[in-house]
Amino acid sequence: MYIATYTASANIAVVKYWGKRNEELILPYNNSLSFTMDDNLQTITTVMFSEKFSQDELWLNGKKMDLQKGKKSHVLPVDLLRKKADIDLPVRIVSKNCFPTGAGFASSASGVAALVCATSKALNLTLSGKELSMLARQGSGSASRSVYGGFVEWLKGDLEDGTDSFAQQIAPHDHWPELRNVIAVVETEEKKVSSRHGMKTTTLTSALYEKRLQYLEGVIPKMKEAVLQKDFATFAELTMRESNSMHASMLDTWPPIMYLSDGSREVIYMVEDLNAELGKTVAGYTFDAGPNAHIYTTEEYESVIKERLEKIAHVKNIEVCKVGQGPQQISDEAQFL
Ligand code: DP6
Repeated sequence: MYIATYTASANIAVVKYWGKRNEELILPYNNSLSFTMDDNLQTITTVMFSEKFSQDELWLNGKKMDLQKGKKSHVLPVDLLRKKADIDLPVRIVSKNCFPTGAGFASSASGVAALVCATSKALNLTLSGKELSMLARQGSGSASRSVYGGFVEWLKGDLEDGTDSFAQQIAPHDHWPELRNVIAVVETEEKKVSSRHGMKTTTLTSALYEKRLQYLEGVIPKMKEAVLQKDFATFAELTMRESNSMHASMLDTWPPIMYLSDGSREVIYMVEDLNAELGKTVAGYTFDAGPNAHIYTTEEYESVIKERLEKIAHVKNIEVCKVGQGPQQISDEAQFL
C-alpha cells in the first residue's frame, strides 16, 4: 500500500484567471495573482494505491463520486503521476472540505492541490514546486496557485506544450501578517454556470475580453509592487477594479453570465461607503465566479467591516481568513478521525 495525506487551502485571486488559450492543457490567456488562504478554507485528502482495490475510487465529503463523469478532469493529475512513477495500481482518494458549513464554497483549487501533493508523496516522487504546480494546473487552473502559500503568481507562459505555465511564490505567508479576507456569504447554493463553461463562452463572445487582457498587462506589475510594498490603498483599488473588469466581461458574454446578486451589490456599496466615510481605502472587495464577497482589509478594520456586514440582510454568514502557508503533509489517521 502506498499512502499519503495532505491539506491544501483555497486561494482568492486579486488578478483573476478567466479564459483558456488551450483547454486540454489548461493554459490561460493572462498571468494571475492570488493569496492562498489559511486552514479556514482547507481541503484534506488521503491518496492510497493498492493491488487490493479493484478500481479507482473517489470519495468526496463522505460520498462516492462517479469517476466516469463530472469532476473526472480534476483527478487527471493522478494518471499523470502514476505514469511518472511507473506504478499502475488502482487508487482510492478520500477528500474532505473543511469549509464552514453552508458557506457556498466548492473549491477545486484546494482539492486538486491537496490531491497532487498527496499523490506524489504516496508514490514516493520528489517533485519541485514548479512540477507540482504544472500538474495541479492540468486538474484545475486555479489549483496551480494553491500548491504554494503566501502571495502567488501563475505565469501564463508562451509555449504551446505548457512547460512554461506554472505558479511561483512572490512573497511568503508571513509577508503581510495584518492582511485579512473577510468573506460575506450571500448565497449558499452551487453556481448555475460552471467556471469552466463560463470562461469558454466569455473568450468566444465577449468584445470586452480583449480590452481586459490589455488592461491586465498593466495591472500585474502594479499589483505585485503594491503587495511587496504593503501599500494597501493601491492594492485594494486595483483588486476592486480587476474584479469589476472580470464581471463586466462576464456580463458582456453571450448569453450573459451574471454571478453577482443583489447581496453582492449591497456589499460593494458598503465597502464604497466605508472607504468614503473614512476618507481612505481600508477595504477592497473581489468576487470569483459567484456572488459571495471576499473583502480584503487589514486587522485594524476587520471588526468594523464585520459590524457593517451584519447589518446587511442578504449576508448569511461571515468568515475571516488570514494568508496561509500552503499544503502540509499530515498523519494519514487524522483524515479519518
Ligand atoms: C473566477 O480554476 O475553477 O476563480 O481551470 O476550468 O478548473 P478550471 O477553472 P477554475 O477557475 C477559477 C476562476 C476564478 C478566478 C481565479 O481563481 O483566478
